[in-house]
This record gives sequence, C-alpha cells and structure tokens, in this order.
Amino acid sequence: ADFTVLCCGGGNAAQVATGLFSIRYKTIAVSFYADEAAKWKAALGDDDFELTLPGGKVVKSKPHDITNDPSVAATANVILLVVPSHAHGEYFEKFAPYMKPGTIVACMPARSGGDILFSSKLGDKAKDMIFCGFETLPWACRFTEWGRKATILGTKNNILAAVSPATAKQAMAKLQGLLGVNPWVQDSPNNLGISLRNPGMIVHPGVMYGRWGPESWDGQPKDESPLFYQGVDEFTEKILIEMTDEAQAVARKAEQLVPGLDLSDACTLKQWYLDCYDGQMTDTSSLKRCMNTNAAYDGLKHPCKEVDGKHMPDLTYRYLSEDVPTGLCFAKGLAEIIGIPTPTIDKVMIWAQGCIGLEIMVDGKMTGKDLDKTRAPQGMGITTLPAFLLASKIPALL
Ligand code: NAI
Repeated sequence: ADFTVLCCGGGNAAQVATGLFSIRYKTIAVSFYADEAAKWKAALGDDDFELTLPGGKVVKSKPHDITNDPSVAATANVILLVVPSHAHGEYFEKFAPYMKPGTIVACMPARSGGDILFSSKLGDKAKDMIFCGFETLPWACRFTEWGRKATILGTKNNILAAVSPATAKQAMAKLQGLLGVNPWVQDSPNNLGISLRNPGMIVHPGVMYGRWGPESWDGQPKDESPLFYQGVDEFTEKILIEMTDEAQAVARKAEQLVPGLDLSDACTLKQWYLDCYDGQMTDTSSLKRCMNTNAAYDGLKHPCKEVDGKHMPDLTYRYLSEDVPTGLCFAKGLAEIIGIPTPTIDKVMIWAQGCIGLEIMVDGKMTGKDLDKTRAPQGMGITTLPAFLLASKIPALL
C-alpha cells in the first residue's frame, strides 16, 4: 500500500503541511473542527492546492481526501497533528479505535506533556504506537486563500524532536524523510526534555503577568498596546527568571531521581534564546536584553482589545489560554509530584487561571475541578513518579 500520511487541522500550519506532503505521499487532510473539512473540500473542489515556497517557487499538489472521518487512521503510517495543542486530545481519542500498531503520531508543536496525554487517551493501545513531539513548527507560514493557497515564509534550519519510546529511532528517520532536507530534525533523548524545554510556558504567561498582573497594572486602559518582548522590564525579567529557575529545579530533581534520564535539552529560557536566535540579538548580556533586542520580535505587541479608542489586554488570548493548560500546568504538576516548591509559577498560575476561567490550583495544590482540561499529570490521574514514568514510556531504574 502507499505510504499514507494524515495531516490534521485546518489552519495555517495544517494547510501548508497538507500541500507539502501531498507532493510526494498519499496525504489525507483531517479536521474534526466544526464543518471545517467539508468547507475545505468544497473550497478546493477539483483544483490543485498551490503552495508558495520561500524564494517564490509555486508547487501544486492534491490531497487524496479532506475528511472528518476518523476511520482513515486505519490506513495511516504517519499521523501529523499540526493544530493548536488544546485540540490534540480530541484527535488522539477519535483515532484511537482505528490506529494500527506501529503508527507514528507526531505533534508539531507538541508543547508539554503530549506524550502522557497520548498514553492516557490510548490506554492499552499506547504501547504499540510511537509518539513524536516536536519542539516547534518547522515553518513560519500563512494561508493566502483559505483552503486553496498558502505560503511558507521561512523554514527553520534545525528543530528538536523526541520519540516515545526512545527505542523507536526509525520513526525519526521516517519523519525526516517526510519533511525533506529542511529542517534538520535533531534527535532529543526523550519527550520529557521537550516538555520542560517549552519556552512558551514561561515567556507567554510570565510576560502577561509582568505587564497585567496585580503587582504592576492598575486595571486602567492604555493609550497604546505595549510592546511584548521589547517592553520586557526588570520586574517582568525577575518573574521570568524565577519561573525558568523553578522549571530547572524540576528537571534537575527528575534527573537525580531517575538515573540515566537525560534532560539536557530542558535548558533555561536564556539558553533557549541563545540556541534558537543566535546572531539575531544585539545584546545577550541578560535575559531581558535577549528579549528586548531580538530582531525576530521587532514591533510585536501585547494582545489587546480596543475599548473607546484605548487598549485593554486580551487576557483570554492563547498566551494564557493555551500556554497555561498545555505548558505551565504540566511543569507545575510534575513539580508537585517530585516535591519541588514553585512559588512564582504558583503566583502566575493562580492569576492566570482566573483570567481564563479554569480552576486548576486550590489552596496551593493541583486539585482544581478543571485539571482534566490541562496537561497536568494529576488531570490524567497520575500522582506518583512511577505512574508518570510509565505514561512517559521512560524505563525507570527505580
Ligand atoms: P491556526 O490558528 O491557524 O489554527 C486554527 C485551526 O485550529 C482551525 O482551523 C482548526 O482546525 C483548529 N481549531 C481551532 N479551534 C479549535 C477548537 N476549539 N477545537 C478543535 N480544533 C480547533 O494555527 P496555525 O497557524 O495553524 O498553528 C498551529 C500551531 O503551530 C499553533 O500551536 C501555533 O502556535 C504553532 N505555530 C504556528 C506558526 C505559523 O507560522 N503559523 C509558527 C510557529 C508555531
């Protein structure tokens, strides 16, 4: 049978991935979101999908099908999720009954805890499947005509990805083959390292808290939307450093508790900037300066809504509504399991949960009623290190 790829989602990334993979493989686009699949199929009709590559070359291709039928998972060799992370669980759950052993399920980007969510949704079947978490999306991309045309603005040179179980290295080679020569997929030892490396879980909630939290904002509208990265001040930097240090404490304690566990990719936020934006920052003397002087962030503003000509923050934007549930909750949940205090993460989380209308922490503990809407291990019934390692497919020498 043909090598079959499912490309899941219907936004910018999913349309680009569908266009790209359809060139060489039998590619089926799948979206479970509302009537998106039917709309997309109608928008494309009998025409080819047009993808503009960096440099301007246009390539045409045609997906084999565009559907909301999960049973197509039975034919899949690789299932790629190129959707915002809050949607991952729905895809795992709906595909689970159909997937054949050995199917590779890759999330781009995975954010944090995608591996344990996968195990929890697949149950017994998870042991026969391969999960792959990518630290980010390989492309900066936009559709230009919905469902018909899209553009890849840029492709990253290198991205980190990990497979679970770690023995499934052949999966990485298959994914590299799918992506082509760019980006180069760098093999990270395990998905826990990818999860704890997730910069968005620190940067987005941390910068939002630093600007709009109770310690720095009077609740009054602003004349302009403040700059997000260039506007990072000393107070916000302090919050970010405390959060990244707490996440570091979690990683280092986990390494101590599990001999042989390599979490070297779970680095500090500053190190992540040095790794990923080398040469684009004019001053790397501090975390604040890395963020203030990064050319890639030039002019990016806080998410705001206009009210009577003034600007109020959008405290439900994905910087809180995605990065807290599928990022920070994972790190905090693991911190609680292994006994690492995280006072600054707690402070940010307690503020953020009010903004996004979720109950995550109660009296300083991960026991809120909405935990199951997050990647906190506790929300999947995981409250001990052995249970966590089992779900992570990390062979523990305990
Ligand atoms: P997008 O915002 O275009 O994705 C929208 C799609 O998500 C919808 O078409 C639908 O398929 C799905 N969706 C939205 N709400 C849903 C819901 N309530 N339930 C189920 N599905 C829902 O996002 P995009 O640009 O495709 O990005 C995908 C991921 O890649 C995101 O996590 C994004 O942060 C990340 N990313 C995107 C980059 C880009 O250049 N587009 C660059 C770097 C990362």
